[in-house]
Amino acid sequence: MRQSVTGQVCVRPRWSGGTFAGALGLALLLAGCRGQFPQSTFTPTSDFGFKLNDLYLTIFWWAVGVFVVVEGLLLFVVFRFRARPGQAPPGRGHGNTLLEIAWTMAPVLILIFIAVPTMRTIFEVDGTPGPGALKVQVTGHQWWWEFRYPELAPDGGIVTANELHLPKGRQVALEMTSADVIHSFWVPRLGGKRDVIDGRTNRLALTPDSTGVFFGQCAEFCGASHANMRLRVVVEDSATFAAWAAGQGKTATPPDALPAALRGGADQFTKIRDPGVNSCLICHTIAGISGGVVGPNLTHVGSRSTIAGGTLPNTTENLARWLRDPPGVKPGSKMPKVGLTEDEIAALVPYLQSLK
Ligand code: CUA
Repeated sequence: MRQSVTGQVCVRPRWSGGTFAGALGLALLLAGCRGQFPQSTFTPTSDFGFKLNDLYLTIFWWAVGVFVVVEGLLLFVVFRFRARPGQAPPGRGHGNTLLEIAWTMAPVLILIFIAVPTMRTIFEVDGTPGPGALKVQVTGHQWWWEFRYPELAPDGGIVTANELHLPKGRQVALEMTSADVIHSFWVPRLGGKRDVIDGRTNRLALTPDSTGVFFGQCAEFCGASHANMRLRVVVEDSATFAAWAAGQGKTATPPDALPAALRGGADQFTKIRDPGVNSCLICHTIAGISGGVVGPNLTHVGSRSTIAGGTLPNTTENLARWLRDPPGVKPGSKMPKVGLTEDEIAALVPYLQSLK
């Protein structure tokens, strides 16, 4: 409503063309949420994901019912009892016990119908694994994910980073903690997020039901490169997973047994630089060669599809770019700019790529 220049009050139409177009655009945008998006919770691929999606849909349809009833009554009253010319003002009423009980009990019942499945789902997804679950220890670091499979190989088992391999159809028991600040493990298509906290072990148990690569990321702000703390879950059939695990359980070839073309890179990796923190082996493990635990385990880094917290494809160019200036690629990176020469980088890249 606004005052016109002649002093008359004019009522503008409630739905201008722009408002209508905006509402239509919003509806289309929301409709677009349900599609084949890599991080959509609407296309679950595990029992955990389905339970959350079912609960979500249950609550959604309750909300739709409430919306339709409330808005329907509102519109009915607005039109049925609207002011008409020459009509006397409406009379006053006071108290209607039946109506008051009805509009108190209806929300109580609706909340009970929402609370019961919610509580049931909370207990169902509390992370208690069944017998025979595959144990994986997850550690959040600034800013990358570490995955350990203590039961799959001797001497601490398989250790990898940013890529969690799982067999389809077998339950996995994730035991999760942090090496520093609070992070949150979230792979939307596999289920809900869970915080990972230093000094605590939080659990998730789920059974993936489809093969494929599912994207995830840290879901709790954890510092400069929070947005660069990604992960991939690779769900494979059991034979492919077993072959992967067998490969990952192997230690690296000793430097003097390497072909000449790779020996220079191994020398660069094991060289003590000044200052010592700039030496690769202080922070990184290559099983059989070094034992650093600050950065990702590199024993099989060549077999991973990404580097730098899952943000870059593991290519020759990207690996060189990363070695040249890690904080330039991932702001705040704990790996410093070591000051490697181009020759040193050219030696290191093929060596790291050979670690399959
Ligand atoms: Cu880790 Cu955000």
